[in-house]
Amino acid sequence: MTQDEMKRKVAEAALEYVVDGTIVGVGTGSTANMFIDALASKKGVIKGTVASSEATAKRLAGHGIPVLDLNDALTQVASLSVYVDGADEFDGGKNLTKGGGGALTREKIVAAASDKFICIVDETKRVKHLGAFPLPIEVIPMARELVAGVARKLGGNPVLREGFITDNGNLIIDVHGLVVTDARALEDELNSVPGVVCNGVFSHQGADVVLMGTPGGVETIV
Ligand code: A5P
Repeated sequence: MTQDEMKRKVAEAALEYVVDGTIVGVGTGSTANMFIDALASKKGVIKGTVASSEATAKRLAGHGIPVLDLNDALTQVASLSVYVDGADEFDGGKNLTKGGGGALTREKIVAAASDKFICIVDETKRVKHLGAFPLPIEVIPMARELVAGVARKLGGNPVLREGFITDNGNLIIDVHGLVVTDARALEDELNSVPGVVCNGVFSHQGADVVLMGTPGGVETIV
């Protein structure tokens, strides 16, 4: 089975977690795109969606699936029923690295607004410790060098993502070379740096369920 076939299987498996009549949070990336395509079969059955990026909103709309603004959604319901998204890495504690596509801030917001996070990945994303994938940090432009300096003190090598501006108008710094043994502590430490909008460690908003595609089928990790 190819990596794409594994992604498609987990994307389809995630449909089981979609609750009829509710608002569903939708992630960003190639695996999330496959979920969006599968979700088209639930059009008219779900109340609507909240997108974690402009690209996701566009793809949902392309299928005719209603896309709501998060603030509007939260005036109708207390929370979204489920958030479905991919990840760049996950560890044994279901902590994630996200933001390879640069949508980490909105992804973390929509995840926080949802009752349950279903993470859809293929087996190549499993790691012992986060850090093999460069950690994305969204920063306010004037804080770029301040945040880069903190990343160096933490033992990482910060690299500005050239020519990339987030949906929120900010920059992304990708931090290479970290070995993350305490994901929660690193997420909190980076959040305490002025100018950091969001960092790609998802420990507070870690997955509730990981659906992992393998050549043998979909493994459910709870
Ligand atoms: C987007 O910003 C990311 O967080 C994606 O969820 C992550 O990069 C996974 O993407 P793929 O499904 O394309 O691997």
